[in-house]
Amino acid sequence: MSVHNNVKRVTTHTLQEMKNNGEKISMLTGYDFSMARIIDTAGMDVILVGDSASNVMAGHETTLPITLDQMIYHASSVVRAVQRALVVVDMPFGSYQGNSKEALSNAIRIMKESGGHAVKMEGGKEILESISRILTAGIPVMGHLGLTPQSIYKFGTYVVRAKEKDEAARLIEDAKALEEAGCFAIVLEKIPADLATRVAQEVSIPIIGIGAGNGVDGQVLVVHDMLGINNEFNPRFLRKYHNLFEEMLGAFQRYIEDVKSNDFPNKDEQY
Ligand code: KIV
Repeated sequence: MSVHNNVKRVTTHTLQEMKNNGEKISMLTGYDFSMARIIDTAGMDVILVGDSASNVMAGHETTLPITLDQMIYHASSVVRAVQRALVVVDMPFGSYQGNSKEALSNAIRIMKESGGHAVKMEGGKEILESISRILTAGIPVMGHLGLTPQSIYKFGTYVVRAKEKDEAARLIEDAKALEEAGCFAIVLEKIPADLATRVAQEVSIPIIGIGAGNGVDGQVLVVHDMLGINNEFNPRFLRKYHNLFEEMLGAFQRYIEDVKSNDFPNKDEQY
């Protein structure tokens, strides 16, 4: 029997059941009320209020500038729209990497002020103290390994991670450490498919991939990318389900023409 079809509200336990049952988990980012309502109505299992909002909503080059207050604003808009999906909120850069007590109070702010259901944090062993402290407060934590965009200035590029043996071995160790600490799931971003498959087999919590092949327990994409809103972002891992850039452009151009030519509004569109 399908777990997905039988839950009114997705929880972290639902995701674990889905993994145990061999059912794939669907996850997509969302940042605002209107989009989140459509995504939730479609039956998405998880909506991630990603710090990619920094790029796609605010136009920054990286995810680093987005603030805790801005993440809470996006997350609370999404939570108001959602009836079924699990809402996971990214902890922004600088809100958890230093002091674990500050990390806990920032995670508590996210949970209290946005109503989100869990937080996501980038990194492995180096952030375990913050993860453990947040978990002790009963806040579910999703890990994120591989390409971790908050460390872009350390990596220098957005190329595939963990292609070399050493980095692959460290990633497996980190995934096991996150599982042991009590994370309920892990995102693996842009790593070789074979490595991601191995991690999904060696840890018992759900592994959600982005650019990590299909041997994992679920997939996540950035909603603006899969809808083709940003027509300049075309990585190999991205499947575009629409070309909304072109469609929206056409709609805006037709509206301009209709206004300029006095075609809009017509008699039926006025009082
Ligand atoms: O912020 C984000 O959108 C993410 C996904 C790419 C996993 O972390």
